[in-house]
Amino acid sequence: MHSILLTGGAGFIGSHLTRLFVNKYPNYKIVNLDKLTYAGNLENLTDIEHLPNYTFVKGDITDLELLRKLFKEHQFTAVLHCAAESHVDRSITDPLAFVTTNVLGTSSLLLAAKEYWAGKYEGKIFYHISTDEVYGSLGEEGFFTEDTAYDPRSPYSASKASSDHMVRAFYHTYQMPVKLSNCSNNYGPYHFPEKLIPLCIHNIINNKPLPIYGKGENVRDWLFVEDHARAIDVIFHKGKIGETYNIGGHNEWTNIALVKELCRQMDEKLGREEGTSEKLITYVKDRAGHDLRYAIDATKLKDELGWMPSLQFEEGISKTIDWYLQNKKWLDDVTSGNYQKYYEAQYEKR
Ligand code: NAD
Ligand code: TYD
Repeated sequence: MHSILLTGGAGFIGSHLTRLFVNKYPNYKIVNLDKLTYAGNLENLTDIEHLPNYTFVKGDITDLELLRKLFKEHQFTAVLHCAAESHVDRSITDPLAFVTTNVLGTSSLLLAAKEYWAGKYEGKIFYHISTDEVYGSLGEEGFFTEDTAYDPRSPYSASKASSDHMVRAFYHTYQMPVKLSNCSNNYGPYHFPEKLIPLCIHNIINNKPLPIYGKGENVRDWLFVEDHARAIDVIFHKGKIGETYNIGGHNEWTNIALVKELCRQMDEKLGREEGTSEKLITYVKDRAGHDLRYAIDATKLKDELGWMPSLQFEEGISKTIDWYLQNKKWLDDVTSGNYQKYYEAQYEKR
């Protein structure tokens, strides 16, 4: 039995995690605290929002008074911390927003948990969800392991690295029962269409250019989002306190090869002539400080906790494209900004 404060549950990964926990653990109480930034969309959770073990609270993780109140009211035994500013390109134009939410927000959550738990740590868990980007950029060879030295290079990854350090500092200094995981790039349903895969799916549907930064030779290691949520579930329940687990798909693609695979599958699904969508590929100015390659070694998670990705990439990407084609309203609402009216309609009226 857990009462869980899940932050950022209206975002991409957070919504999958919320769905998994709310459905799989009817005895757990899940409180989703989300500020509903541009990335938070309650339409991601319409299938579970009515369930009795789920509550939504609109609020900011930097609001310490609110956190204190929520801890008291819901007597949390665990935190699943997903909320973050998450888009590298946005961190280049607005780094302070990333410091505020990712560093100050995480530190505020740690402090609220420390105060409320007051040293009674038996059965408590503070789970911090992080990214492989904290490890920096790889050359053509090698993988990130849990022992790789941190070398963040974008304001996003630097803010996530700082938050990871604060979580470990609370473990070492106050014995806070923390767990961390650092995951590679996720893809799947409910992904905000300013990130590469959903952006390209949306643009292919609408015959718009597919912007490839630089030469498209940067490499990412892609994991289906439900596999990430499953890994978090396993680590939350079986992982060791104080430990970090890398999560990844052993699934490296250059951006250009990935986008060509998307084009191929979408031409087939949309009944377009082969090669039609590839013509939309447009090379654009590279991202500043663009990391060359990320690749995760997830051996520890496999050997210690038995987790493995369940989907091959071609299958996962096919499922993802099908979801976007079947959920055009979701995509239209997000791209038109209509999704931001959902909260008003659903919650503020009550
Ligand atoms: P996202 O941007 O889709 O969602 C973030 C959510 O956090 C949104 O619902 C947003 O409203 C909420 N939020 C932002 N600032 C907040 C604040 N101050 N207070 C309360 N809520 C706030 O992000 P995502 O892709 O789902 O990523 C979730 C977590 O997983 C992040 O911590 C990210 O660093 C990590 N991660 C993401 C990936 C990836 O590929 N997307 C990979 C590895 C790790
Ligand atoms: P993104 O989805 O933003 O994830 P991250 O930067 O966190 O890895 O980008 C994935 C890769 O795709 C990254 O190398 C940048 C590149 N990219 C493009 O080439 N074009 C685009 O329009 C976007 C958004 C990303």
